[in-house]
Amino acid sequence: MSERATPTPESGDGGSRPPGGREPVIRIIPMPQDTNPGGDIFGGWIMSHVDLAGSIIAARRANGRVVTIAVNSFTFRKPVFVGDLVSIYGDVLRVGNTSVTVALQVFAERRWPSGAPGRCVKVTEADLTYVAIDDKRRPRSIPSIATAADG
Ligand SMILES: CC(C)(COP(=O)(O)OP(=O)(O)OC[C@H]1O[C@@H](n2cnc3c(N)ncnc32)[C@H](O)[C@@H]1OP(=O)(O)O)[C@@H](O)C(=O)NCCC(=O)NCCS
Repeated sequence: MSERATPTPESGDGGSRPPGGREPVIRIIPMPQDTNPGGDIFGGWIMSHVDLAGSIIAARRANGRVVTIAVNSFTFRKPVFVGDLVSIYGDVLRVGNTSVTVALQVFAERRWPSGAPGRCVKVTEADLTYVAIDDKRRPRSIPSIATAADG
């Protein structure tokens, strides 16, 4: 079985702005303790939140528990800074027998200088694969869309 998501609706600038009208899976503000020695937000902090967001999408599609089996790609396009409003969007890219692959995009809204609205930039793109597991941690089949819980 194979299934591809419809393309993500993007605003008209090649996808550097957040998808219009869509809700992110996760929104979070990084804090000073999330920085690397250079003062930017640590890549591992971003990866853990992307993994979490992807697992929410995959678990909805799998109608139950999933684990991450692979990080297929991960690209940090722009830095994230303390105080940015970080929003993570995602879509099911592919459904296999027991696996769900999710495409994720991370946007950062920069801190609001002197009360002006912050500028929003795409900072990260990633592709992760999750496997649906049963209560004995064995891979289980992904249900058809008709029987999966609607997210
Ligand atoms: C997930 C797990 C149960 C899968 O068991 P397994 O015996 O390796 O399963 P399989 O070899 O049958 O592969 C299961 C699915 O993963 C896919 N898969 C395996 N390796 C993969 C890889 N490197 N990249 C992408 N997909 C992969 C397979 O194609 C298969 O998908 P399909 O059924 O849709 O075709 C086992 O590997 C595991 O427990 N891993 C640890 C998970 C974990 O702790 N993650 C981190 C914390 S969540």
